[in-house]
Amino acid sequence: MDMDTENTVKKTETPEEEIHRRSEEYRVLHEVSKILHSADELKVVLEKVLATLTRFKELEVEYKAGIFLADEEKKVLRLFSVVGEFGQEFMEKEKEIPYGNCLCGRAAVSGEIIISNSCFSDKRHENKFEGMTDHGHYIVPLKSSGKMVGVLFLYTDSNPPWYIRNQEILLSIGGLIGDAIVSRNREEEIKEKNEQLKELNKLKNQFLGIASHDLRNPLYTILSFSEILADESVGDVNPKQKELLGKINKASRFMKTLLENLLDVSKIESGKIDLDKKVQDLNIVVDQQVELNQLLAEKKEIILDSNLGELLPISFDQNAITQVIGNFISNAVKFSPPKTKVLIFTDIDGDNVRFSVRDEGPGLSEDDQKLLFKEFQVLSAKPTGGEKSTGLGLAICHKLIHLHEGQVGVISELGKGSVFFFTLPLN
Ligand SMILES: Nc1ncnc2c1ncn2[C@@H]1O[C@H](COP(=O)(O)OP(=O)(O)OP(=O)(O)O)[C@@H](O)[C@H]1O
Ligand SMILES: [Mg+2]
Repeated sequence: MDMDTENTVKKTETPEEEIHRRSEEYRVLHEVSKILHSADELKVVLEKVLATLTRFKELEVEYKAGIFLADEEKKVLRLFSVVGEFGQEFMEKEKEIPYGNCLCGRAAVSGEIIISNSCFSDKRHENKFEGMTDHGHYIVPLKSSGKMVGVLFLYTDSNPPWYIRNQEILLSIGGLIGDAIVSRNREEEIKEKNEQLKELNKLKNQFLGIASHDLRNPLYTILSFSEILADESVGDVNPKQKELLGKINKASRFMKTLLENLLDVSKIESGKIDLDKKVQDLNIVVDQQVELNQLLAEKKEIILDSNLGELLPISFDQNAITQVIGNFISNAVKFSPPKTKVLIFTDIDGDNVRFSVRDEGPGLSEDDQKLLFKEFQVLSAKPTGGEKSTGLGLAICHKLIHLHEGQVGVISELGKGSVFFFTLPLN
C-alpha cells in the first residue's frame, strides 16, 4: 500500500467491531458480485457497483466515485463510470489521463492501492480543479490475472479515520470488477467475431455461387466438344487422340458434378433454395434410384436389393430427396467391395418415414462418423471401383433433409458395414 502517513489515524477495533466489519465486508462483496453478474451493460453495472461501495459504511466514503478503464497499449486511463457530482472541468480534464499522472495514473503503474489524506497536501495529487474542496482518496487498481484493467477511485473526507484493513476488501472488490470487465470485453469480442464470421460465410457463399455458375458454361463447351470430336462427326481421330478425348470428357464430367455440388451448397447455405414440396409416395422415388444404380452395382457384382414397407404419402421436394437417396445408394455401391450386398429399406418409425441403406462395406470409425456430414470430407473409405469423390454429397444430404425437418444418421462400426438412414416427418 502506498500512503501519505502524515496525519494518518489508525483506528484500532474491538472484537465486536471486527465481527461487525467482517460481516459488512461479506455483505458488500456478495452484493458487488451479484451486480457484476447482472445482464445490464457494463457502464450501468459499474455505476451500480460504485453506488454500493459509497453506501458501504465501514469505508466512510462520500457519494462520489468513479472508474477509469485502462488502455494498456496507449498507457492511458479513460474515465468510464462515475457516481456523484463532478464539475464540467473535472469531467473534461479527467476524460483521459496518462499512466503515472496524479493518483490514479500512479496506481495504474504500480498496481497498488493508494490511500491519500488530502488532495491539497498530497504532492502526488497533481490535477487540481476550480472550486476543489479538501478531500481524501482510496485509489484501487482493477486487475485481472495480473493485468491492469482499470482504476477505481473513491472520495473521502480529508484526513478520514482510515482502516488499514480496508485495503484487503478493496483489493478483493478490485479483482472482482477487473475480472468482470475482462469477461465482458471477451464476450463483446466473441460477438463481434461471430458477426464477422457470418458475414464472411455469406461472402463465401456468394463467391461460390458466382464462381461455380460462371465456370459451368465454358465447362459445358469443353464437355460437349470433346464428345463431338470423339464421335468423329467432324472428322477422323486416331486411337491415341480418342483416348485423350475420353480423358478430357471424364475429367470435365467430374468437374461438372463438383460445380453442381458447390452450387447446391451455396444455394442451400444462403437460403436461396425453394423446396417444391408435394405430398407423394417415397417408395416410387426409392424404386427409381435403386433401378438407376443397378448398372453400377452389377459392374462390381454387388447385389442391390430393396425391401420397401407400406408407407403413408408424405410431403417432400422430389428433386431434393431424389438427390439424397441417390447419394446414399451410390455411396454404398461406391465404397463396398465387389461381391457384397447392398439392401435398401423403407418403413414407418413413430411419426416418421425412414429410409435406410445397409451395406457390407468398410464401415466407419467413430472419428469418421463425426466428420461424415460436413463439407469436403473424403474419409478413410475410398471408392473401390475407381469412382470419383467430391466429398460434398453427404453434406448436401444433411442440409436438404434438415430443410425438410428430418434427421440423417449412420450406424456403423469399422470393418462391419454401415447403415445410413434419414427420416422425414409424416405430417
Ligand atoms: N457407405 C459408406 N461406407 C463407408 N464410407 C462411406 C460411405 N458413404 C460415405 N462414406 C465416406 O464418407 C465420405 C463422404 O461421403 P460423400 O457422399 O459426402 O462424398 P463422396 O461420395 O466421397 O463424394 P460425392 O458424393 O460428393 O461424389 C466418403 O468419401 C467416404 O469416405
Ligand atoms: Mg457420395
